Amino acid sequence: MTTPPRGSGCFITFEGIDGSGKSTQINRLAEHLRAQGQDVVVTREPGGSPGAEEIRALVLQGDPDRWSAETEILLFTAARRDHMERLIEPALAQGKVVLCDRFADSTRMYQGVSRGDLRPVVDKLHRLMIGREPDLTILIDMDPATGLSRALSRQTADERFEAFGEDLQARMRAGFLALADEFRDRFHVIDGARDIDTVAGDIRATVDKALA
Ligand code: ADP
Ligand code: TYD
Repeated sequence: MTTPPRGSGCFITFEGIDGSGKSTQINRLAEHLRAQGQDVVVTREPGGSPGAEEIRALVLQGDPDRWSAETEILLFTAARRDHMERLIEPALAQGKVVLCDRFADSTRMYQGVSRGDLRPVVDKLHRLMIGREPDLTILIDMDPATGLSRALSRQTADERFEAFGEDLQARMRAGFLALADEFRDRFHVIDGARDIDTVAGDIRATVDKALA
């Protein structure tokens, strides 16, 4: 996969801090695209394939300090490789639209920035083992206090990163906006601090334009 086969489908990722509305908006967009006759696959990271879901439990549950930052990068990248091989690349090769809740930009942020400056390691491993970027990335931008209160109201077992609190979320928000600037060709920033329908309308318009 260092030279990934390019299918005719479209690979769209959603990024943003915890609680910014990614999964809500992915489901809304999937409904819209399916109504237009598109073949849509909805997936998420870490996870999305049986092996990657096993790794998800390792990185998001249990004592977080049992992994060093470097080991964590390897685990997220291993999960991504399996997800690419088993689900994403085959779906794209069949011409499907793949909507993925988080992808490599999350590793660039959470592992690359939050525990020291490991971004060069993340990028190097990405080039070596994944070797492809999304066609389009929707960044749902949101203030950390609102995002965190939304995320914490959800009560799931995967609370590893949400437990880091508002300070980390603020750094992640700034980092994601900087990434959007760095990868201007594929990023679209959407203001997530509005009602669900308004945000969904903006995302629909962006994606419809990209697919046209
Ligand atoms: P993420 O996947 O980014 O963590 P979710 O889609 O799970 O975010 O949303 C987090 C919580 O906030 C959910 O309970 C969801 O119903 C709610 N939510 C999502 N979007 C909005 C919005 N625009 N306004 C108010 N609440 C929202
Ligand atoms: P997710 O279930 O998407 O959380 P949320 O719905 O609250 O946004 O992701 C779980 C956590 O995993 C999230 O806090 C970010 C983290 N994560 C990383 O640290 N690195 C990664 O590469 C990915 C994909 C996620």
